[in-house]
Amino acid sequence: MNKKIKLISVLFIGLLMMFMTACGSSNETGGGSNDSGESSASKGNSGGVEVGIVLPTRDEPRWVQDEERFKAALAESEYNTEILFSQGSSANERENVETLINRGVDVLIIAPHDGAAAASSVAAAKAEGITVISYDRLVTDTDAVDYYVTFDSIAVGEAQGQYLIDNANGTGIPLYLYAGASSDNNAFLFFEGAWKVLQPKIADGTFVIANSSEAEALQAKADLTREEYGRILGQVTTNWDPSEAINKAQTQLTAASDDLKGDVAILAPNDGTARSIADVFAADNEITSYFITGQDAEIASIQYIIDGKQSMTVFKDVRTLVQDAIGMAIDVLDGKTPETTGSYNNGNVDVSAKQTNVIVVDQENVKSELIDSGYYEASQFTGLE
Ligand code: BGC
Repeated sequence: MNKKIKLISVLFIGLLMMFMTACGSSNETGGGSNDSGESSASKGNSGGVEVGIVLPTRDEPRWVQDEERFKAALAESEYNTEILFSQGSSANERENVETLINRGVDVLIIAPHDGAAAASSVAAAKAEGITVISYDRLVTDTDAVDYYVTFDSIAVGEAQGQYLIDNANGTGIPLYLYAGASSDNNAFLFFEGAWKVLQPKIADGTFVIANSSEAEALQAKADLTREEYGRILGQVTTNWDPSEAINKAQTQLTAASDDLKGDVAILAPNDGTARSIADVFAADNEITSYFITGQDAEIASIQYIIDGKQSMTVFKDVRTLVQDAIGMAIDVLDGKTPETTGSYNNGNVDVSAKQTNVIVVDQENVKSELIDSGYYEASQFTGLE
């Protein structure tokens, strides 16, 4: 009799454990997907996930582009992968990383929402023996990042600044400065690249800073410290948010004196914010013309460029970045050491990096660079000759 009770309770405990495991794993799936959606490019043959990918948000076309390009590239691969979005939240991001750790990934590819806040998440992954690849945005202040795949972000900013210089006519041109989020290391690199080329042209009177007292205070200085860049960014940040960019541009244009209107130049950090800022400037009767920069070659911005509403974008070929990231992940899975081209300091260590070049696109070359190259199809746009 006693034996029977023992057997029943062992069976019962066994069933209970199976039930709890099932609940646990379905919770993980829920946590990982948030309301952000989860997409899987897995083959589903071995069941486990070898490569986990975490992207910052689905709300910006830039990162949806990355997802699409990852899926296209992974369709050919034999490895199981999973892509999760963090929807602009470090807490979601942490959950996503934990989900992937629990799924047993060997490699984590992550574009952090907030570079410093992601440090503890990647440390948790590293502690499980997972190889961490920072994707496009660097995870900062940790030694838990193994590799970094990136575009040349200083070159992005230089190209934006140079475009404004090449199109500058005369002197005393009002220059409106905008930047990305201070929580993104790239925002500093873009601004630094732009400052490098623009500062001498501010010093010689070609441009007059229109919307940042911090930048004005530093305008005689070619090389700024991170803290000095931080002061300017604190004033001109859009937080990568198109609505915040609209509000900032509207407030600043309302406050601007007549000599800061007319023909102006605008340093906008990316396409999403560029379209918002361009709309505000286009609607102001006292703005007679503007040149405005961007980056990412988002479809909506390519249409803006064709329509003459945005002047340029910096095309960062996501296909190459995706290939580099997957190539690295596969090398790691195969026990090889990935090839790198340099390194980036993340405030804690030098992270071995593979860097990709960027291309300036405006009305002149939009067709050859983006359509003839097969990146987009002509049918996605109107008014393209
Ligand atoms: C990326 C840009 C993007 C921006 C906003 C940056 O880290 O490099 O391509 O536009 O984040 O998401």
